[in-house]
Amino acid sequence: MTDHPHTRLGRTVGANSGPVVGMVGAGQLARMTAAAAVTLGIDFRVLAAGARESAAQVCAGTVIGDYRSAADLKAFAADCDVLTFDHEHVPGPLLAELEGAGHVLRPAPSALRFTQDKLAMRERLTTLGVHCPRYAIAADLADVTGFAAIGGWPVVLKAIYGGYDGRGVWVCASPAEAAEVLAHGLDLMVEEHVPFERELAILVARAPSGQGAAYPVVQTVQQDGICREVLAPAPGLAPGTAAAAQRLGLAIARDLGVTGLLAVELFDTPDGLIVNELAMRPHNCGHWTIEGSVTSQFEQHLRAILDLPLGSPVQARRHAAMANLLGGENPDLRSGLPHVLAADPAVKVHLYGKQVRPGRKLGHVTALGHDPAVVRKRAMRAASYLADGVEDP
Ligand SMILES: Nc1ncnc2c1ncn2[C@@H]1O[C@H](COP(=O)(O)OP(=O)(O)O)[C@@H](O)[C@H]1O
Ligand SMILES: [Mg+2]
Repeated sequence: MTDHPHTRLGRTVGANSGPVVGMVGAGQLARMTAAAAVTLGIDFRVLAAGARESAAQVCAGTVIGDYRSAADLKAFAADCDVLTFDHEHVPGPLLAELEGAGHVLRPAPSALRFTQDKLAMRERLTTLGVHCPRYAIAADLADVTGFAAIGGWPVVLKAIYGGYDGRGVWVCASPAEAAEVLAHGLDLMVEEHVPFERELAILVARAPSGQGAAYPVVQTVQQDGICREVLAPAPGLAPGTAAAAQRLGLAIARDLGVTGLLAVELFDTPDGLIVNELAMRPHNCGHWTIEGSVTSQFEQHLRAILDLPLGSPVQARRHAAMANLLGGENPDLRSGLPHVLAADPAVKVHLYGKQVRPGRKLGHVTALGHDPAVVRKRAMRAASYLADGVEDP
């Protein structure tokens, strides 16, 4: 492992005697967690693949290393009191090795497993009595056609490991389409295609002490498997349903022994709420909390993993809308900034310092206000202008 010069700087300036938090991964989630760590005076390190990664650019405590390397992980962990993660991709055996060596991992590998293995997640949630889509292992085409014989086509094929942002999810309308996906040779499961009315998400935090906190339930809008918008609170959601969803999130966090944040992605259907998937880290569904809630999800994650009292998750303004800024026509996001900031001085723009690539998550915009339709439009207009140079997406 090569030391990044910032590592030494981080150690030198670390006059802080409090616990050191190390986050494995240095994407935008780590970058925004670093900002929250600054506010709380927490010594925060990231394990980055390279110095140009989103969090590596801003975090003095950057260590360059590979999250798939036992040696790099151990060297990083040696200087940290608590380890946490900005993605789910650290191999399970390496997590177990770190835990076995006495390092504190929050969430623990026993919980994190249910975000890494979608089949194990479905099995465990089903055991807990949580409503999930019907599913089965898809080892070959006969498994898929047998599954479809019961519920019909289309079906959804999913990579059991490693998928994100819709990579690893395929809607298949016929055996021929399923065969094409099977030909990739991945470990797959098959699910019923849920005809949901919309997607919702619950974000909760749980500390080792057992204290929990639940954010307002939000609506998420996905396109091609990528989150485009988040609306907080979810428009028109019955208060009883919202409260039940929050209780569900807190119960899953408790039952799986989650420490830190837990995001639960849901399908809203005429038959009730169905759980799609889990994440145990800050999540795109919670970016609005930076300005829209009393405690941002990033601060909350730090408080939870350090077993500090949790912050209020209460929404600070009546409505918030977050629009993701995906790579589009404009090769230089900053060129649109003067116009966007002048056109609506109240929108909040977050840029992650990433190279523009089509469809890549490069930033987000949050708008707050009283009228949900207006805040949604303001956030989308700004994101669209920054990404594509047009105000009407
Ligand atoms: N069983 C399903 N039925 C209908 N749509 C689905 C189903 N599973 C996933 N999707 C759609 O694909 C998106 C991505 O799937 P998800 O399982 O959340 O994978 P990822 O890990 O890529 O986020 C979901 O947000 C949803 O829009
Ligand atoms: Mg998802």
